[in-house]
Amino acid sequence: MILEIKTLGDPVLRESCRDVDSLDGEVKGLIDHMSETLMSSPGRIGLAASQVGVLKRLFVYDLGHGTRCLINPEIIEREGEDLSEEGCLSVPGVYVTVPRFERVKVRCTLPSGHRVILENEGLPARVVQHECDHLDGVLIVDRCDPEERRRALEEYQELSLQRGQATA
Ligand code: NI
Repeated sequence: MILEIKTLGDPVLRESCRDVDSLDGEVKGLIDHMSETLMSSPGRIGLAASQVGVLKRLFVYDLGHGTRCLINPEIIEREGEDLSEEGCLSVPGVYVTVPRFERVKVRCTLPSGHRVILENEGLPARVVQHECDHLDGVLIVDRCDPEERRRALEEYQELSLQRGQATA
């Protein structure tokens, strides 16, 4: 099932997600639907539960090796700096420069139920930080400098208007 992806302006994107306490059928179904939704989205890399309106601490991502899912992720170590352009399925058409840590260690649960610590560097580390931000209601436009934020929000508004006209 393809889920509707919420976009900037929807208050659910600003909510904090709550820990998942059991990997029941509902959670497994959500993971399947989110994976399917991610795969059907152009320019896809990651999708957090709050982006489909569900306030659970989990996200899916795919860097070309199949979809992975991290549940209750918690960044426990951060190191280095990396400045790079980022987009987001919830802010379609907008790209901003976001500073991130170069390496992160993340403690999480996998859909199998295993508790693991993953070490990520470069793009995977960036994706983990981006998706963990979503779980706390933080978006890329909160992470770039104010000037870029202003430009990005203007651009986004213009694109939204165009989209509105295109579908009207
Ligand atoms: Ni995003």
